[in-house]
Amino acid sequence: MSVDAERLAAEIETLSRFSDDPWPAVTRVLFTPPDIEARAWFLARCEEAGLEMRFDAIGNLFARWVGTEPDLAAVATGSHNDALPMAGRFDGVVGVLGGLEAIRSLQRQGVRPRRSIELIMFTAEEPTRFGIGCIGSRLMSGALTPERVEALLDDEGLALSEASVRAGYSGAVDQVRLDDGRYAAFVELHIEQGPLLERRGVPIGVVEAIAAPATLRVEFSGSGGHAGALLMGDRHDPIVAAAQVILATNRAARATGAIDTVATCGLMHVSPGAVNSVPRHVRLEIDVRDTDLARRDATLASIRSAATQAAKDTGVELNTVVLNADPPATCDPQVIAAITATCDELGLPFDRMVSRAYHDTTFMATISPSAMIFIPCRDGVSHRPDEYASPADIARGVQVLAGTLARLAR
Ligand code: HGY
Ligand code: MN
Ligand code: MN
Repeated sequence: MSVDAERLAAEIETLSRFSDDPWPAVTRVLFTPPDIEARAWFLARCEEAGLEMRFDAIGNLFARWVGTEPDLAAVATGSHNDALPMAGRFDGVVGVLGGLEAIRSLQRQGVRPRRSIELIMFTAEEPTRFGIGCIGSRLMSGALTPERVEALLDDEGLALSEASVRAGYSGAVDQVRLDDGRYAAFVELHIEQGPLLERRGVPIGVVEAIAAPATLRVEFSGSGGHAGALLMGDRHDPIVAAAQVILATNRAARATGAIDTVATCGLMHVSPGAVNSVPRHVRLEIDVRDTDLARRDATLASIRSAATQAAKDTGVELNTVVLNADPPATCDPQVIAAITATCDELGLPFDRMVSRAYHDTTFMATISPSAMIFIPCRDGVSHRPDEYASPADIARGVQVLAGTLARLAR
């Protein structure tokens, strides 16, 4: 599979420049100017490859290479180009631009797939702007209802549907849903975002399952007041309650003793946010995951009870919302077999593994047989500006993706 590694590396670098922070950091939040510019640039690359473009109401982009039997269910691949603040150049992008290069390399070899091959760039894989991740694939798969999407507001109170219209997309949100069987298979290429492949010196990971993600919002409200004049005995300080919950989150994840239980409080918003004013309102957002659903839910429950206790101890109001609590995803044996057969054909060693990060595959797996291909990333680092995957590793991943797509689309 002749992959043009140089061109792909150059395109990844070009895409990384569409960012609200200076290179090598990438900040490309949904429908911000860099995201809009990146979408236009990506659209042009797909048109250059002669792909048929379609967009849905919330900006999922579909680039189709029409097969010789266009009425058959297509084979799909794809990932995301959005990036959370101060992230890296490769998360998601390797699967979108790598998917495009996989198609181009098959075109260059004169492959004529029976089934169409469709490249998808998913909207809002990162939760940054609207609080939950994978909004595009959730809506496509029915994991999110149109009503729930209409209720999603960003920090300025703007609805996702309105933000989509301002970004130039039209159509009905309830038309985004794809029927089961829409795709014969879905395969996503992604960096591992962990250290195992690099540590073991294995070039390819074949993902068999994806951990169960959950996000909990915890809000404490207190009476606030003057940081100097209000006596300690009269204070009801929500940030003290928040501190207890942050520590309880870390303790709860460690307490299961399982390596796959992870949790962190990645976001804390304090208002009014003045050094000499006792906080009145604190909002925490907590990310809890596990490959085992019952263990994930038990961890979530213990964090919620710690929040109840903290509110009582501090004399503040508590409001909690579970923004999402999804089951783990299981990848499809046939699609896995197509990936491993391609690795064997290319003489590439591979490891079967679990993904602790969630991906659009988490939701695509509920409507189509799906699996993922991982490539190593340096020191397992991701969601940081120093995230890095080498052109050689990326090219190997694209080779495996191209061979897998060709196999599945035969
Ligand atoms: O958080 C995740 O797992 C993904 O990288 N958005
Ligand atoms: Mn990510
Ligand atoms: Mn990702």
